[in-house]
Amino acid sequence: MSFEKTKWIWQNGEFLPFAETKIHATAFGLHYGTGVFEGIRCYETANGPAIFRLKEHMDRFYASAEVYNLKVPFTQAQLDDAICETIRRNELKNCYIRPTAFFDSASLGIRAICPTSVNILTWEWPNDFGAEKLTKGMRVTVSPYRKFHASMIPTTAKATGNYLNSILAVREAAARGFDEAILLDMHGNLAEGAVENIFLIKNGKVITNDQNSSILLGITRLSAIEIARWLGYEVEIRTMTLDDLLTADEAFLTGTAIEITPVREVDGKPVGSGTRGPITEQIQQTFFDIVRGRKPEFEHWLYRLEPKAVANAQS
Ligand SMILES: Cc1ncc(COP(=O)(O)O)c(C=O)c1O
Repeated sequence: MSFEKTKWIWQNGEFLPFAETKIHATAFGLHYGTGVFEGIRCYETANGPAIFRLKEHMDRFYASAEVYNLKVPFTQAQLDDAICETIRRNELKNCYIRPTAFFDSASLGIRAICPTSVNILTWEWPNDFGAEKLTKGMRVTVSPYRKFHASMIPTTAKATGNYLNSILAVREAAARGFDEAILLDMHGNLAEGAVENIFLIKNGKVITNDQNSSILLGITRLSAIEIARWLGYEVEIRTMTLDDLLTADEAFLTGTAIEITPVREVDGKPVGSGTRGPITEQIQQTFFDIVRGRKPEFEHWLYRLEPKAVANAQS
């Protein structure tokens, strides 16, 4: 599958036609996986396109960069503007946004602190698993690959090199016919999906883990926690065992790419009734209402490309 070409890519402060962006063969990040990135979604709403939780994503982008001492040579406001302008120039309404910052060329000695390059891509990328999985749920497997412990590589930083672990797990799961891999942590407890956080529902309670389980602290995870509490559910944040997953009434995964997608089966064993559970559906539906601008209580989670349109609609 080739990459869907868009008109423009933002690279280091300039808008370049898709075919004209270049990364040098000596780029440090290419050799050693020393880059950081974000995956963000923009959704079409009745008042124009809106980016979901842009601030939280870009705060994490800068925090991830800090971990690797990557000096991002643009302010957060400059990158926010660049993201909006890239979406506009590519004439997108629903899209995925991928800012990356990486160590560029200087030296290939691993101690080198290199200049940072920044790219912003925007393109249409509907939910990875498609509409059917959103309602019916996906079939997951417990991966033979474990999630690396946070003391080995910081897991709360969204760094490019981290994804070697996810890629091995997801490809191994796909080769055995599963939709997604669930990784256990170093201690054998649940960590997360290859690129998602995991939630369980047990006896009406919503359960998820935190950074002590070597996970990336997902923005969708945070949103699901806040939505569940807003809906009146008790949310328990604790270590989760494999047994918790195998005996859960419902389970779902959260991530920008897959949004909120139910899990219907683990290694062939149905989760609960083997379909999307009612609490999962309620949290998922609320999430989709929010991102589509249909829940005024959560308007502050949306970064409007055309703020005037909203002001007019509300006046
Ligand atoms: C390892 C990992 N965990 C969790 C997530 C979910 O994070 P978010 O909801 O911020 O997309 C991702 C997605 O990027 C991920 O790669």
